[in-house]
Amino acid sequence: MLASDHPYNTVFDPEYWGQHGAPHDVLATLRREDPVFWFESDRFDPAWLLTRHKDVEHVGKNPKLFLSGPRTVFHNPKGFQSPLIGLPQQDAPQHTRHRRAMQGWFTPKAIRDLEHRMSEIAKDTVDRMAATDSCEFCNFVGAQLPLKMICEILGIPEEQEPVVWQLTQDVFSAADPDMTRAANAQEGVRNAMGFCAGIAKARQESPTDDFASTIANAEIDGERMTIQEIASHLMIMISAGHDTTASAINGGMLALIRHPEQLARLKQHPELTESAVNEMLRYVTPTTNFVRTAAGDTEIGGVKIAEGDDVCIHFCAANRDEDEFENSQAFMIDRRPNRHLAFGIGPHACIGQLLARIEMKALFEELMPRIESVELDGDPEYIKAFWVTGLKKLPIKYDISGGD
Ligand code: HEM
Repeated sequence: MLASDHPYNTVFDPEYWGQHGAPHDVLATLRREDPVFWFESDRFDPAWLLTRHKDVEHVGKNPKLFLSGPRTVFHNPKGFQSPLIGLPQQDAPQHTRHRRAMQGWFTPKAIRDLEHRMSEIAKDTVDRMAATDSCEFCNFVGAQLPLKMICEILGIPEEQEPVVWQLTQDVFSAADPDMTRAANAQEGVRNAMGFCAGIAKARQESPTDDFASTIANAEIDGERMTIQEIASHLMIMISAGHDTTASAINGGMLALIRHPEQLARLKQHPELTESAVNEMLRYVTPTTNFVRTAAGDTEIGGVKIAEGDDVCIHFCAANRDEDEFENSQAFMIDRRPNRHLAFGIGPHACIGQLLARIEMKALFEELMPRIESVELDGDPEYIKAFWVTGLKKLPIKYDISGGD
């Protein structure tokens, strides 16, 4: 059992994340000294904490041995019956069938068809920035494009965008009173599920050509999904479908401000935008970890793992692994190779990763050529959350051309 003041506790301490962001020094110590660590504290059910890139990759790529169903999220107790039964909670063969029913919306062609609309929203957002000389970037810029796109894809009307934003914070940022309106994450999940069940029923009664209609009316083995299944799928799409991308944009912007030589390079070399986006994803890692459960006795890095043990795959730690990334704590927009795990790996790897990448690219392609100067206008603030997390306030002042 870890002593309550042991530095390793910071990995799952929302207060720490709220004050400092990710505990990169502690994660580096874990990688070096305890890469397969039995994390047992008085606050959570225990799990093996994996912090090395190769171990996280091994678990992600072996879904038969490491199951998603029993416990997906670290803060849920073992055996907790989550009302959520979406893709992250499923295992094959059910997972394969459900994922196939939604995959069509995320093909390269489907995403390419949205590129024009993304550029329009990116231009509007940067025009609004240009009408002033300072802003709180997270709300004014970072949240805008991902939230609008996911609502348009799902067919959720514009006036409900603030509702979608709030429901998402109630789930992901439940420990942060500045962000949530729910008493705890469970209440947040219940509220969001209720909202999504409403959409599910409406689209079954009157289907349209939006993504919510596809999910609500999809047939798996000739049968419609249950309302709970549909609401679960919708819920992960509305929440993971924008908040993570917004965090990557916000954290990416802060990284550029703190590394002015990288910002200058990106301005000079717009062809590096895709690579810069990839590095932002590695450096920020908005979805920090997931949990799997061992389906049999096995071994990781020479350590015995027993059937039924939970295993936390820490993407954020893996993405700073010195054995995988040269100069791993540095932010380098032209990093290559960059085999980061910000989207996970294996059959559960993020279904929306291309959408997220292209949204980020659209925003930075619009912003970078127009931004003459940018600096912090106060201290950045982080969300009190250790799972899906990021900045909550990024006050900046700047000079941007156009948009009068
Ligand atoms: C920068 C943005 C994003 C990040 C960092 C991110 C990260 C992740 C991660 C780490 C996983 C879990 C992988 C695993 O368990 O191995 C995941 C799964 C998922 N993501 Fe994302 N995601 C992002 C954007 C999106 C978007 C835009 C959507 C949808 C529109 C989305 C929908 C999902 C879904 C449905 C899953 C579950 C997939 C499955 O279990 O089969 N995500 N994402």
